Amino acid sequence: MKATVRAHPNLALVKYWGKRDDALILPHQSSLSMTLSPLSVRTTVAFGAGSADEVELNGYVAKGSERDRVLRVLDAVRAEAKDAKLGPAKMVSRGDFPASAGLASSAAGFAALAVAARAAAGLPADPRAASLLSRLGSGSACRSVQGGFCEWMRGERPDGMDSYAVQRFDEKHWPELRMVVAIVSRDEKEVKSRDGMKNAVETSPYYPAWVKDAEAEVVRAREFLAKKDLQALGEMCERNAWRMHATSLAADPPLCYLMPKTLELIHSLREQRKKGVPVWFTLDAGPNPCILTDAAHELAAEAAAMACGATEVVRCVPGGDAQLLGEHLF
Ligand code: PMV
Repeated sequence: MKATVRAHPNLALVKYWGKRDDALILPHQSSLSMTLSPLSVRTTVAFGAGSADEVELNGYVAKGSERDRVLRVLDAVRAEAKDAKLGPAKMVSRGDFPASAGLASSAAGFAALAVAARAAAGLPADPRAASLLSRLGSGSACRSVQGGFCEWMRGERPDGMDSYAVQRFDEKHWPELRMVVAIVSRDEKEVKSRDGMKNAVETSPYYPAWVKDAEAEVVRAREFLAKKDLQALGEMCERNAWRMHATSLAADPPLCYLMPKTLELIHSLREQRKKGVPVWFTLDAGPNPCILTDAAHELAAEAAAMACGATEVVRCVPGGDAQLLGEHLF
């Protein structure tokens, strides 16, 4: 009744920004992401251990909402495997990338938790069930159960059973694609994605326009990925990130995640493109741009980021599925 899983984080090329159901974490729009290797999180889950649930994240005992989100996933597994009488669980999770990477380790963490908890409970391997389960912890986690390029379909049902991610292309489809993560600020962001998107949904006059184009944007991204058209994908990524941020800039109170160095790097990428270097940015709910490029230009992308004051750069390739490991964390 113990299992360990390693999962990679993912970065949305077409972003999710806003829930239609806060409790079930159901999005207003579909989204599409790239799974990022070598960054990963390992999680061990054991049922029937101790007298109460224990949750440890990166060396600390989890408390408050962090702990509640993990227990929500564990409780859902206990409910599904009710005949197995699993009892209290112990869960230990460790990210092998610096928290300063500016990428939500929660996506990789909840994907690893969902796959590990199901395996520890003796439930069959099932990417769809694991994706549905991980979504209860963190929305974007549902796209980290599988590798390559995954699409989270928004779904229509009020119970959320049709809101999960499927793999559109695996990690071998486009091995030359690169995502260069540039850290320009390590400060904890003031407004978490959860609150930022809620504010946009409730107060931004641009929100309906953002939602209106989202499904078509996913279809376009799929087509550009199929054709391995870097320029078209890059241009779409930038546009999608700008539109997501525009909803928050127009919200009340307005919310701006961009820092001076973020803008400096964005402008510098434009200059690079004029010189023929294929580099485009995307930006999650934070100041650290991620640069979409190919293997031949990843060093140029890194140099551009460093020249704009990035303190750290992580070069990523398309990552694989969440995987069971033989070695446990406890
Ligand atoms: O799943 P959350 O709550 O971490 O929100 C993710 C929101 C973005 O990263 C900005 C976009 C996305 O689709 O991942």
